[in-house]
This record gives sequence, structure tokens and C-alpha cells, in this order.
Amino acid sequence: MTMKRLKDRVAIVTGAGGGLGRTHALELARHGARVVVNDLDDSAQAVADEVCRAGGEAIAHIGSVTRHEEMDAMAAQAISRFGRIDILVNNAGILRDRTFAKMPLEDFRLVLDVHVMGSVHATKAVWARMQSQNYGRIVMTTSSSGLYGSFGQSNYGAAKMALVGLMQTLSLEGAKYNVRVNCLAPSAVTAMTAGLLPPEATDVLTAERVSPALIALVDQDAPTRMILLAGGGSFECAHVTMTRGIHIDDTANLAEALCGRMAEVQAQDDQFTPASGWDQPRHELAKALASPR
Ligand SMILES: NC(=O)c1ccc[n+]([C@@H]2O[C@H](COP(=O)([O-])OP(=O)(O)OC[C@H]3O[C@@H](n4cnc5c(N)ncnc54)[C@H](O)[C@@H]3O)[C@@H](O)[C@H]2O)c1
Repeated sequence: MTMKRLKDRVAIVTGAGGGLGRTHALELARHGARVVVNDLDDSAQAVADEVCRAGGEAIAHIGSVTRHEEMDAMAAQAISRFGRIDILVNNAGILRDRTFAKMPLEDFRLVLDVHVMGSVHATKAVWARMQSQNYGRIVMTTSSSGLYGSFGQSNYGAAKMALVGLMQTLSLEGAKYNVRVNCLAPSAVTAMTAGLLPPEATDVLTAERVSPALIALVDQDAPTRMILLAGGGSFECAHVTMTRGIHIDDTANLAEALCGRMAEVQAQDDQFTPASGWDQPRHELAKALASPR
């Protein structure tokens, strides 16, 4: 029997009418959470019904993450039905793949709008409440396409990496209110990736094998500021690191000296993950002050 880790918790999952959102909703419910299933159409109701048939509790919200008033209405619906909101999973997404040379700007904007502003709207709708109740767990869905790049996905990659930036700062701002913010980078065969992944992936890289990673990110003991990769039962972490780098004193010939030492700048031994963006100027100032003049 499943341990009800999320008993009494209320979760919202955007874009949960299919794919990963659907398995997230089912998995959250299996762990005891009551779930608001959002999507653009009746697929949200179908998944909410599926959750209920499996013994969980869920309601549907039909609306677009691109409209902030609809996200406010979604949060209001969660409150009126379940009385609280503990967990938000920003999952809704679309693709508009083309090489950058051929990509219309509208497709770039649309993808940013759904992934980035969509996650902002839904997060904005729950943030103040999570802060005031001193509890919140938020997951942004990023992607290896953003973290590492992917041919033909400049719009999607930019959007997915923007969510890492959003997570980095929200995890800092949420810390003192026990609002923890993390990123999940899944790999699964879904409507979005059908045809992109090899056929043998179908039975292995299933959405069902990703959603347990979500539970780890929204649990009471969840980390914060983690970028968790999950696919086919494997789990990894990505870190945005900073190398130890070099310091050059010769201000007159800085560029020339630097060009000759780029390998040292990139060397990854002793690299570290800064605690916040301020670590960069802090380290650079310390190195400059420590160097003989
Ligand atoms: N499948 C993967 O391997 C993979 C890899 C990396 C990231 N992701 C991300 O995971 C998330 C889920 O993707 P998926 O693979 O399940 O794809 P999917 O296409 O099966 O599901 C996406 C869902 O989002 C919904 N949606 C789209 N626009 C919306 C909007 N404006 N408002 C509300 N809902 C909207 C769609 O209707 C759909 O049900 C996405 O953010 C995607 O970018 C998926």
C-alpha cells in the first residue's frame, strides 16, 4: 500500500489533461493529495474522473496558463473546493520546432508565453497564499533542451532555461516562508515527443516512471533549488556551476592574456555551485583584492 506522504495536501497541475501532467496528477493523488487538473479542454475533466476512479480526489479546471485571470480563477476554485493550495506543478507546454533561421517570431513568442509567462501566471496566483501559510512546493518543468541545447528548439530551449532562472530566484525569495521551488527535467514518450524519441523508448521512457520524481520535489522534506532530471527510472541532477577560473593582474593586456588562458578558465576541477548570483562579484572582488598590485 502506498504511504500517503501528501495526505491533506492540495496540488494544482497545469496541462494535466494528458502526457506527464496526467501521470503527475495520478501519482500525486496516489500519495494522498487532492488535485486540481488544469488543461485547455475537456481532457482535464477526463483525467480528474480517472483520478477519482482510482480512489483519489480531483476536480478539473479548464483554462489557459497564458491568461493570468484564468490562473487566478483556478487558484480560487482550488480554495473554494479544497480550502488550501500546497503544491503547484507548472507542467503545461507546447512545441513549435524550427531552426532559428526559419522560425517566425510569433512561434518564438508563443512558446515563451506558454512556458514562461504560463508558469509565472500560475505561480503568481498561489505565491502570496503559500508565503502567508508558510508552506508551498512549486515545480517548474524545464528540459534538457534548455539546459544543454537542442537543434531546432531555440524558442523552447530559451523558455525552458528561463524557468531555471525563475526557479533560482523564487527559491531564494521563498526560503524564509518554507516555499520550496525546484525544476524537473523529464524524458518521456508523450504526444509532445512522439516521433522524436526512438521506438524502443516507448515502453521504457514512460511518463509513469517520471512522476515519482515529482513526488520527491513536492514532499514535505523536498529540497529547494534542485534541477532534477528523470527518465525511465533514472534520476540525475544538473547544477549551474562556476569554475574557479583565473585572475589576471595585467590590466593593459587583459584580452591578450585571457585569450591565451581560456582552457584554464574552463577547467572544471573544484568548480562550485554559487549560493546566489552575488557569489560571482563576491569571488571576483576577493580575488582582485588578494592579488598583488
Ligand atoms: N516528454 C518529454 O520528454 C519532455 C521533456 C522535457 C520537458 N517536457 C515538458 O514536460 C511538460 C509536459 O509535456 P508532455 O511531454 O507531457 O507533453 P504533452 O503535449 O503530452 O502535454 C502538454 C499538455 O499541456 C497542455 N497545454 C498546452 N498549452 C496549454 C495552455 N496554454 N494552458 C494549459 N494547458 C496547456 C496540453 O493541452 C497538453 O495536455 C511540458 O512542459 C514539456 O515541455 C517534456
